[in-house]
Amino acid sequence: MAMWVFGYGSLIWKAGFHYDDRLVGFIKDYRRVFYQGSTDHRGTPQFPGRTVTLEPAKGEICWGAAYKITHKEDQLAALEHLEVREKQYDKKAYVDFFTESSVSTPAVSNVMLYIGTADKKLNENYLGPASLGEIAIQIVRAEGPSGPNREYLFKLENALIQIGCEDKHVTDLANEVRRILVEEQLTTR
Ligand code: SIN
Repeated sequence: MAMWVFGYGSLIWKAGFHYDDRLVGFIKDYRRVFYQGSTDHRGTPQFPGRTVTLEPAKGEICWGAAYKITHKEDQLAALEHLEVREKQYDKKAYVDFFTESSVSTPAVSNVMLYIGTADKKLNENYLGPASLGEIAIQIVRAEGPSGPNREYLFKLENALIQIGCEDKHVTDLANEVRRILVEEQLTTR
């Protein structure tokens, strides 16, 4: 049986595993939020970055990309890769994935995704809500082994534009980060 993985963050622009098909679409009743602290990719334990996670949100949808992995050996390799890469996300969930807003039957069921939950006991890196300005400043300052936190944000913004699914929260945040960077450049002149 094929395995499907839904990506709503870095998995949209970089799968990092072999797959046989990729569909653009959405999942229901979740919202993409920059509430997950990252100390292993886009920040450090001293200065965590912020990456996206999913927050339950009745009636909302979250766009992304779903990857189909057909062969058993590819599935095992993908899981091995993801379990390391997404190790700061404490929960795996299985959801319905849709490709068309007008159709109520899912395009694929049981699509696996990773969530960083709000349970601080299970997810010690969870940072939770903050104002747009606070999140933006943290993203401007943070950098980790995978690169600057701002690069993650800009890549996500770009990946969502590429798949034709702009997300207002991501765009607003990217605009605020760009504004801070310009302002900082002007004050250091
Ligand atoms: C995802 O992309 O689906 C999970 C979050 C991330 O790795 O950025």
